[in-house]
Amino acid sequence: MAGRLTRRWSPSLLQVLRFPVVQLHMSRTAMRASEKDFENARNQLKLLTKDPGNEVKLKLYALYKQATEGPCNTPKPSMLDFINKAKWDAWNALGSLPKETARQNYVDLVSSLSPSSESSSQVKPAAANEKQPGSENIIVTSQDGITKIMFNRPSKKNAITTSMYKEIIHALKAASTDNSAITVFTGNGDYYSSGNDLTNFTDVSPNSIEETAKNASILLREFVDAFIDFPKPLVAVINGPAVGIVVTLLGLFDAVYASDKATFHTPFSELGQSPEGCASYTFPKIMGPAKAAEMLIFGKKLTAGEACAQGLVTEVFPESTFQKEVWTRLKTYAKLPTNSLRISKELIRSNEKEKLHAVNAEECTVLQGRWLSEECMNALMNFMSRKSKL
Ligand code: COA
Repeated sequence: MAGRLTRRWSPSLLQVLRFPVVQLHMSRTAMRASEKDFENARNQLKLLTKDPGNEVKLKLYALYKQATEGPCNTPKPSMLDFINKAKWDAWNALGSLPKETARQNYVDLVSSLSPSSESSSQVKPAAANEKQPGSENIIVTSQDGITKIMFNRPSKKNAITTSMYKEIIHALKAASTDNSAITVFTGNGDYYSSGNDLTNFTDVSPNSIEETAKNASILLREFVDAFIDFPKPLVAVINGPAVGIVVTLLGLFDAVYASDKATFHTPFSELGQSPEGCASYTFPKIMGPAKAAEMLIFGKKLTAGEACAQGLVTEVFPESTFQKEVWTRLKTYAKLPTNSLRISKELIRSNEKEKLHAVNAEECTVLQGRWLSEECMNALMNFMSRKSKL
């Protein structure tokens, strides 16, 4: 598993992105890009400070191949070879587009991506703006008796990468023994989180997919165990839509406050997957089996109001006053005697712990099998290629 885009496209696309830098010549005398323009565009890519996103990377890859090698005539990669299959599809979709046109389109596309300040001949070192994988995707702060763990990957709707899972486990362990009274999860940006990063599974070679699924299952189990065992009150401040595992985990939280713009969605069947986070046990208990089935089996998306009516959410606040009201309340709660808070939580949760660990283990085993299923592979492929229609 690996989540960051920059790693998903290695090595071939990154080779395109990391060419040595030379002077840039942006002017074109005719609507036909010269070899020199093409080379400059390749070099210009290196100056981008912002990840251009999946769709654009696929387009760049396809145009580059078409411009240098002509129409795609290599064998189609297997279904399991996600990345190469997506790239092959993108290249193949260009059909018999002439090399010169591909070259021109490539130059135009690169030009459209580059802010004018970056179109100069000044060159920054390649790695100057690279972030360490996952290093800032989870932000942990502690103040006023509250440890806040914030999903901080807004450009990806706070999707959770493998390294973020590990960071969260680590953050929960640290929070369980720090001085804070309560621990709060929230999201930065418009989403709470879009759940598991669906590319966690696409950066693996077909040969190692079984091992990857096994490792992912082990990591997921450890991740959910950290929530089951967390000793202090755990609160979710749901600032926007929540998808997948960040929803299923809510049954393990002690309070869930939601903005009225939040939604709750667990599209497991659509993804060829199955519930995790102990939801197969907690959701029927919280909302009754019929309502739980509608969410977990049929993927019905709930509004914040519906989630509150079904007992998944503690209280809903208008978006305009959400942050102020919730944090004021939490600061008050955090002043309550710390030991008393822990002991009361322990009383409420301890009888269930053994059961929850067993449910977690079972869900992770089932999921491991699902991740290897054709249904799941197809769903991931659809997600990967949904924006790559050129
Ligand atoms: N995994 C990986 N990437 C994700 C993601 C996820 N769970 N959720 C969002 N992203 C990425 C998108 O691929 C896109 O990346 P790009 O800019 O490189 O193309 C970026 O985040 C923004 O998302 P986008 O889809 O453009 O925004 P949207 O408002 O149209 O849709 C979602 C938002 C969340 C509805 C949509 O991205 C989605 O359905 N994501 C998958 C959610 C999911 O199924 N989670 C797993 C549940 S088990």
